[in-house]
Amino acid sequence: MPNQPTILVTRRLPDNVLARARRDYDARINLEDKLFDADETIRRAEGCAGLLICSTEKFPAAQLARLPASVKIIATFSVGHEHIDLEAAKKRGLVVTNTPEVLTNSTADIALLLMLGAARRAYEGERLVRTGEWKAWAPTFMLGTDVTGKRLGILGMGRIGQAVARRARGFEMEVHYANRTRLPPALEAGAIFHADANAMLPEIDFLSINSPSTPETYHWLNAERLGLMRKGAIVVNTARGNIVDDAALIAALSSGRLRAVGLDVYEGEPKLNPGYLKLANAFLMPHIGSATEGTRDAMGFRALDNLDDYFGGREPRDRLV
Ligand code: DGY
Repeated sequence: MPNQPTILVTRRLPDNVLARARRDYDARINLEDKLFDADETIRRAEGCAGLLICSTEKFPAAQLARLPASVKIIATFSVGHEHIDLEAAKKRGLVVTNTPEVLTNSTADIALLLMLGAARRAYEGERLVRTGEWKAWAPTFMLGTDVTGKRLGILGMGRIGQAVARRARGFEMEVHYANRTRLPPALEAGAIFHADANAMLPEIDFLSINSPSTPETYHWLNAERLGLMRKGAIVVNTARGNIVDDAALIAALSSGRLRAVGLDVYEGEPKLNPGYLKLANAFLMPHIGSATEGTRDAMGFRALDNLDDYFGGREPRDRLV
C-alpha cells in the first residue's frame, strides 16, 4: 500500500508478527537474522521512520546520535529497555516503547522452572540419564531440597515478581519481597515486605531476582549480600545478568555457601562466565523467559500496536519517553 511508514525490523520476529508488519508497513526485515553491528544498524535505518528492535541492538547516547533524522520512534520487542539510553532518546525527541505485561506469565513460569530445577538437581539428573551413568534407584541417591513450604524472597515486586509470588503460593511458600515501594494489600496478598532488601536476605531459602537492570541494581548480588544469605540458600535470576556479580556467585556455589543456582540470564550473554559451566549445582537456561510461541507473538503484536498508535497520531500505550 502506498504511504505506509517505512520501518526497520532488526531481527527475524515470529512469522505472525512479520505478516502483520508486512501488511501494515513498508517493512525492511532482517530475514537472515544475522546480528547487525552498530554501523550496519545505522546504514539500514536510513530513510526509516521507525525501528522495531530487540535487546540485542544497543542504543547508547552515541548510537542514538548517529540515527538518521527520519527515525522518530524505536519500539523494542522486550520489556527490558536498558539497551536504550532513554534520557538521550528523549533529548533527541525520539519516542521509545517496550512490551510489558504480555511476557509476565511465561517469565514467571521460567523462574519456577529454575527454582525446581536448582532445588531438585535437574541438570545432574538429566546428565546421568543421558550418559547412561544412572545405575539404580537408591534411598540416598540425588537428594535435593524441597521447594514446598520454604521461604521465597523476591527482589523486585513488579508484574513478574507478583506472578512469581502467585505461583510460589501454589507451593505453599512463605513469600517475602523487597521493592522500592510497598504494594497495596490486595497485591501484596500476605507477602512480607522488606523496605531494606539486605534485611530480607537472612530470612529466605530462595531468592528470585525480578528487578530491572539499572545503575542501582548493577552487581547488586555481590559477595557481601551473598554473605547475608542462609547457608544452603538457592538463587534464581530471570531478570538481567548484570544484577549479579558472577565471580561472587560462583565462589558461593563452589564453597557450598549456596546450595544451587538457576539462571536464565548472564552478564555479557550469550557468553557467560565459564566458571558456571564447571558447576553441577548451576541449572542454566539460555535466556528463554519469554520464549513461548504465544508470548513472542504477543510481544511482536504489542510492539506493532505501539507503532500503529504512533503513526496513527495516538499516544502509544507503552511509551517510555
Ligand atoms: C525482555 O523482554 O526484556 C526479555 O528479557 C527479552 O529481552
